[in-house]
Amino acid sequence: MAWNSTPSKWLLGLFLVLAVVAVSEAQLVDTFYKLKCPGGPAKVTQTVRSWIAKDRTLAPALLRLHFHDCFVRGCDASVLLDGTSGEKFAAGNENSLRGFNVIDDIKAKVEAICPGVVSCADILALAARDAVVAIGGTNYTVPLGRRDGIVTSKAEADANLPSFAANFNTLKSVFASKGLSVTDLVVLSGSHTVGFAHCAVMQSRLYNFNSSVKTDPALDPTFVLTLKNLCKQGDTTTLIKMDLSKSVDTWDPNYYTNVIRGRALFTSDDQLKRNSAGLSVVQSMNQSPSPFNKAFGASMIKMGRIGVLTGTSGQIRKKCNVKN
Ligand code: HEM
Ligand SMILES: *[C@@H]1O[C@H](CO)[C@@H](O)[C@H](O)[C@H]1NC(C)=O
Ligand SMILES: *[C@@H]1O[C@H](CO)[C@@H](O)[C@H](O)[C@H]1NC(C)=O
Repeated sequence: MAWNSTPSKWLLGLFLVLAVVAVSEAQLVDTFYKLKCPGGPAKVTQTVRSWIAKDRTLAPALLRLHFHDCFVRGCDASVLLDGTSGEKFAAGNENSLRGFNVIDDIKAKVEAICPGVVSCADILALAARDAVVAIGGTNYTVPLGRRDGIVTSKAEADANLPSFAANFNTLKSVFASKGLSVTDLVVLSGSHTVGFAHCAVMQSRLYNFNSSVKTDPALDPTFVLTLKNLCKQGDTTTLIKMDLSKSVDTWDPNYYTNVIRGRALFTSDDQLKRNSAGLSVVQSMNQSPSPFNKAFGASMIKMGRIGVLTGTSGQIRKKCNVKN
């Protein structure tokens, strides 16, 4: 009766029902495993911590896995699938991504307590967070409920992963295509405050910049001497720390000081200050105290939502390297 006489209320009710359905099917939520696998996220944290206690360099590796997963087909664990035409063999991934064994170990331990419940995509998101916290970053809550994809493509990874030689506009548009802003670009690039790079990616900046200039003039000349000593011409295999100002990696905003001083490794890092919008974020992250930690959590949560499979899409893989 009453509802019959007020179609606007009826419509509002219908809208609310649809909204609830949409939320339960399409959104990630912090409490996703609270009933389904209450010990799952803690098992991930505990396993990540024990690996990093043995090898600290696994922290940056785990962080990068989540980034490379999310930028190709969304955060669906497609980066973990085996196969010679898969993402693992893309230029930016092959002989470079590390930590697959850690993910397999986490998955086995989580399957042992809740079989078939926790997705590999959620494990990647949790492991990235736990890795950052394990080396001194600030904790943030990871929205959960991703499901795993069944397709992996080298060609798609080659097309979607930004190059170390990319300029600002390219970086901006790649990030924009994933729903990420210039702030997210600059904040997430702050990950390069930890981890390692191969001398291969430094060769052109040090020895073969362009037809008239051998060494990129954007690099601090003193830093060039250090780099040339670590990475000889033609060396493609040596690993060097990305933040050479500290001997042991801890999570800090030092990356932004490096960018400002011409001491960040890649052209993609240097480019962040070559645009006024980028520069203002670099400068704000470089303040003391720095808003980096807080901003990083917020941008990671955004990155972790890219193209996720939820509800009944995709599957929960039994093993992370193969579809069911
Ligand atoms: C903005 C575009 C980006 C470019 C062009 C880029 C490029 C690279 C390159 C070339 C390496 C070295 C790989 C090697 O030599 O093996 C690297 C390492 C790394 N990147 Fe990025 N990256 C970008 C953004 C990001 C983002 C958004 C994150 C995380 C959210 C990230 C996290 C890392 C980490 C942690 C490492 C070290 C990995 C390790 O030690 O195993 N990067 N990146
Ligand atoms: C981060 O916080 C979550 C709760 O949101 C907690 O379960 C997890 O253990 C914390 N991670 C680390 C590495 O301390
Ligand atoms: C080489 O790089 C320098 C420094 O960025 C630049 O001024 C010059 O125009 C470049 N030359 C060519 C041929 O691209």
